[in-house]
Amino acid sequence: MAKMIIDGHEIQAKAGATVLEEARRLKIEIPTLCYHKDLSSFGACRLCTVEIKVKGKWRLAASCQTEAEEGLEVRTDTDAVRASRKLAAELLYFRYPETAAVREIAAKLGVDVREAAEESHDCILCGLCTRTCHEIVGANALNFKDRGLGREIEEPKIEFSPAACIGCGSCAYVCPTGFVRMESVNGKRIIWDKVFKMASCEVCGRHFAPVEQLEFISRTTGVPIRSLMTCVSCR
Ligand code: SF4
Ligand code: FES
Repeated sequence: MAKMIIDGHEIQAKAGATVLEEARRLKIEIPTLCYHKDLSSFGACRLCTVEIKVKGKWRLAASCQTEAEEGLEVRTDTDAVRASRKLAAELLYFRYPETAAVREIAAKLGVDVREAAEESHDCILCGLCTRTCHEIVGANALNFKDRGLGREIEEPKIEFSPAACIGCGSCAYVCPTGFVRMESVNGKRIIWDKVFKMASCEVCGRHFAPVEQLEFISRTTGVPIRSLMTCVSCR
């Protein structure tokens, strides 16, 4: 436990919690695009900015990456905080003007959002898919390809490793923009352009999960694959 102050409220913060988590416990609204409570923080969107007092001076910090420490003072709703969040939203809107998740948050933060010509589903590099793939699924099929070293400067992007992907679809569920497309039809699932054969439930016959995902679970848990061939509803 750490005693700290957020917007004048003295609280006992949980060990290891972030300022964002503690502020949300107080029902203080803080915008986020790259944060998920079950994943490590990444600090990509900068929408969650707050002010923290360091050596008597207020400075801006990403609340999802700032640990709630003993004696810390935090302000979440000052002119500087609002201006910083608006600037972060403007930058995102500038890069992805047709992406609904960006437009929505930018409008909320005071950015002048014009009508979209056509909806698009850009990758905003929030890293939610890569972290989910590594930290929750453990398949490690998605990685950030960062700016190239040396003379070749490339835009960062998500790199997909087909051999490692098990087709679980977690990245599609967590992606806030719809960039990760997944389609499950006629006993097949297509995701990141890889086609997976779906297993049929031994009881009801429904296609319920990619065979590769069941094999992965069997491999990593030691549960025989035979015991995994029944869907959740029939178990
Ligand atoms: S694909 Fe989606 S979840 Fe992954 S980094 Fe891009 S926007 Fe974020
Ligand atoms: S939520 Fe904190 S930087 Fe994106």
